Amino acid sequence: MNGLEQRMEEAAALANRALAAAVVPDGSPQGIVLEAMRYSVDAGGKRIRPLLVIETARMLGKEPGEDVVACACAVEMVHTYSLIHDDLPCMDDDDLRRGQPSCHVKFGEDIALLAGDALLTHAFEVLAGAQGLSDHAKAQCCLALARAAGTGGMLGGQVIDLQSEGKKIGGALHRQMCQLKTGALFSVCGQMGCACAGASEEQRQAVERYCQSFGLVFQAVDDILDVCGDEAALGKPIGSDEANHKNTFVTLYGLEKARQMSREWAEQGILALAPFGAAGQTLQELMELLLNRKA
Ligand code: IPE
Ligand code: IPE
Ligand code: MG
Ligand code: MG
Ligand code: MG
Repeated sequence: MNGLEQRMEEAAALANRALAAAVVPDGSPQGIVLEAMRYSVDAGGKRIRPLLVIETARMLGKEPGEDVVACACAVEMVHTYSLIHDDLPCMDDDDLRRGQPSCHVKFGEDIALLAGDALLTHAFEVLAGAQGLSDHAKAQCCLALARAAGTGGMLGGQVIDLQSEGKKIGGALHRQMCQLKTGALFSVCGQMGCACAGASEEQRQAVERYCQSFGLVFQAVDDILDVCGDEAALGKPIGSDEANHKNTFVTLYGLEKARQMSREWAEQGILALAPFGAAGQTLQELMELLLNRKA
């Protein structure tokens, strides 16, 4: 196992433990929603966002304590909520997620909708109640996560995505859509890692440049895999974008150009890590992994 693989295992284990503690089905009359939350959270996923929080903090000299893990857990809850809603029939209408039936297929649309809502609100409870996170860092992280999830972030990008279905949009609006729907949640991982580690303004800016590239590479590769990926490896349907008449990096630029653009953004992201020297190695390797991922 190489260094990055070890770090990925560690981040997934830390996130899984925190998520299991945060989402506990309790047999209450409303307990079904906790079961649905747990179902989607337990299905796994790559846990890339927790890894990014943890490795940003570590690059800045902060080992993952309860504070960092709470941030990692909170962003993964918001991300899982976004996936549950993204799969609903009124959105992308996808029946498979993380290798198992989507939340609404298993629990019905009503409970899936509410499970998404509950993961979103509960993420802020996790952050606000985090042990070891100073009041100042809590406020910073809550504000950053709310902004990243909201109309100026992930949710806003999803709105543009849905409203653009069946129309051809320009490169600038498409780029903005991706920066919002996907990039914003990666940027907040970097911001929370910085907040936990007490980063300087220069460090924050470098991390932000890295995360911006990260978001673009991630969505471009997601779009490519929707065309040429393997459903079993991805754990979600391929061909969803075409079926929904989405604007993607592939429909706008074609496969080859989309691949080339991803390589260029990955290089830019890696360059942004230069000020961190050897400490930036894990994030550099992570960018390379993103570029070549098949799942
Ligand atoms: C999928 O995210 C949604 C996009 C932003 C493209 P991931 O590919 O990180 O999904 P999981 O968490 O591994 O399931
Ligand atoms: C979704 O983009 C981004 C989110 C905010 C969930 P996609 O719709 O392409 O994500 P997948 O391919 O369903 O995971
Ligand atoms: Mg979508
Ligand atoms: Mg989708
Ligand atoms: Mg996709």
